[in-house]
Amino acid sequence: MISYIWAEDEQGLIGAAGKLPWHLPADMAFFKKTTMGHPIISGARTFRSYNRPLPGRQNIVLSRHGHFPDGVLVVSSIPQLCELVAANPGENYFVTGGANLFSQLLDRVDRLYRTKIHHQFIGDTYMPKIDYAHFKRLRVTEGKVDEKNPYPHTFELFERLK
Ligand SMILES: NC(=O)c1ccc[n+]([C@@H]2O[C@H](COP(=O)([O-])OP(=O)(O)OC[C@H]3O[C@@H](n4cnc5c(N)ncnc54)[C@H](OP(=O)(O)O)[C@@H]3O)[C@@H](O)[C@H]2O)c1
Repeated sequence: MISYIWAEDEQGLIGAAGKLPWHLPADMAFFKKTTMGHPIISGARTFRSYNRPLPGRQNIVLSRHGHFPDGVLVVSSIPQLCELVAANPGENYFVTGGANLFSQLLDRVDRLYRTKIHHQFIGDTYMPKIDYAHFKRLRVTEGKVDEKNPYPHTFELFERLK
């Protein structure tokens, strides 16, 4: 199974100059809790934004070239990635972005873990358009606003309709 996990602002913005446009520790904690123990699949740019492989998860990076730390599984094409996913039907593979990678797996993604941040930021990278008519929302949870998490945000889970 393939899941997407990401956070977007009111306009669908997800990135700014290779990084996240915001600092929202509650969403980082949600990401960690949700992906822990599962393989994560990242585009090369997104992987570089982590600065290191994320612990407790198999780190898979999509790249046609480039050097990555030991232990990182580098996959050089979407068909190769899909073979890997098909070989492990019981596993939930979390695609962590970015926009480039998200746009290539829209037909294959089964679940969407979306954090909606109810605010507008400045940046350069947007989530590709998803046809939510093909998905059912299973869960919606309001995040807590506090001093460290000043932006209202909502955690949602969608599943593809069979
Ligand atoms: N808000 C969020 O939840 C969120 C999540 C993730 C990322 N982001 C942000 O999004 C931005 C990065 O996204 P992006 O779209 O620019 O880049 P990206 O998707 O992270 O990475 C693109 C790179 O991945 C490799 N790649 C992609 N498709 C491939 C394929 N089919 N086969 C082989 N390699 C492939 C290529 O790297 P090579 O050039 O090495 O071949 C390509 O240049 C950053 O600002 C990041 O912070 C935000």
